[in-house]
Amino acid sequence: MSGNADLLKKAAAEAAMQYIENGTVVGVGTGSTVNFFIDELAKRKDDIEGAVSSSEESTKRLKAHGIEVFDLNSVADVPVYIDGADEINEHGQMIKGGGGALTREKIIAAVADKFICVADDSKRVGRLGSFPLPVEVIPMARSYVAREIVKLGGDPVWRQGFTTDNGNWILDVHNLDIMKPMELESDLNNIVGVVTNGLFAQRGADVALIAREDGVETLKV
Ligand code: A5P
Repeated sequence: MSGNADLLKKAAAEAAMQYIENGTVVGVGTGSTVNFFIDELAKRKDDIEGAVSSSEESTKRLKAHGIEVFDLNSVADVPVYIDGADEINEHGQMIKGGGGALTREKIIAAVADKFICVADDSKRVGRLGSFPLPVEVIPMARSYVAREIVKLGGDPVWRQGFTTDNGNWILDVHNLDIMKPMELESDLNNIVGVVTNGLFAQRGADVALIAREDGVETLKV
């Protein structure tokens, strides 16, 4: 990743801080853009109650900054969830899970009142699908799920050597023509053995903060 791309990610992360209210539990996603956000959040760690985290990686970084990380089951309210995306369209629909944290990300996104997506403009697309769509599967179902995905028109590739924080495996699905993201999200989740998939269409972002060379664009969906 070039230094310039990192500057854009940092700018998007900084812009997200305006959505953080004192005394709240902040939902925290996963990835290189979110890492910049966690570093910003650390500057206000005494103002917030703490965080809920979507991955072991983010939990480690939050704790290293002295930010308390709560179990989601012990938290009643998550006003805001901040996370990145691998692709995002004009409707706030996304492909996520390049880092493999898609299931926990989707759970916190479901709980949160508001989803703020932070991204550099390389993530903005007209149609979703160039980025291979991650699908988390129960290990014993990997081959079966792969065969079912082929029937849907995709080319699944097993992310060998990678195990999710939940002890599962990932199929990265190439060559999907994602004309109807909401339908495809349901179709994939209906395959027995799928834990979840990286399409965030039914619950997309409410606000996207897209960092460009000339500033951060706020896209409200
Ligand atoms: C993690 O599983 C992903 O969903 C990330 O949120 C997504 O891949 C964006 O990551 P970067 O900010 O590193 O591009």
